[in-house]
Amino acid sequence: MTKLVNVVKHPLVQHKLSIMREKQTKSPLFRSLLNDVSKLLAYEVTHNMPLTHKEIETPLTSTSAPYLECQEICLVSILRAGNGLLSGMLELIPEARVGHVGLYRDPTTHEAVEYYFKMPPQIEECDTIVVDPMLATGHSAVAAMDRIKSINPKSLKFVCLLAAPEGIDYFHEHHPDIPIYTAAVDECLNERKYIIPGLGDAGDRMYGTQ
Ligand code: URA
Repeated sequence: MTKLVNVVKHPLVQHKLSIMREKQTKSPLFRSLLNDVSKLLAYEVTHNMPLTHKEIETPLTSTSAPYLECQEICLVSILRAGNGLLSGMLELIPEARVGHVGLYRDPTTHEAVEYYFKMPPQIEECDTIVVDPMLATGHSAVAAMDRIKSINPKSLKFVCLLAAPEGIDYFHEHHPDIPIYTAAVDECLNERKYIIPGLGDAGDRMYGTQ
């Protein structure tokens, strides 16, 4: 049975995450590490996906070989930082379908407002993996899941790099059925809703913006 919060403690993930946390790590290295970690997270999030056997010929004999139905996996990036996790996962699962969700935070109501939503057809056939590096308050992840659930994917999982306890609680209050995969659960949010100790603004760290 899948746990609701899966912390990927593999030493390679933890080592690369520590370098990403360092404030002197510049964007090119940060992106390259995120790309590596996204593949290791993809390895974990797909670990119990079903395999279909097909008869094949090796150079020596015929055999029944297991295959993942990669076209029935949909990767969904929450813009813009989600793209940093998406690209590495797509390198590992190039046949996966891809969706994007764009949300911004209304400055007065603080609600997540959708500005972009593009999903592949036949999502009801797809095991859907939604990615966003930072689960902070959880507001955008919950809004994205609300919207994606409305189009009935076959299953849903959420992958992030770092999660705050507050974000996990908020997420599971609204979506107790969706498992979270993360490289670490940090201490808390600060008054500006940044994850502590965290790594700063993931989008800014990736693209050198501020
Ligand atoms: N988003 C980020 O990019 N970083 C945080 O610490 C919180 C939200």
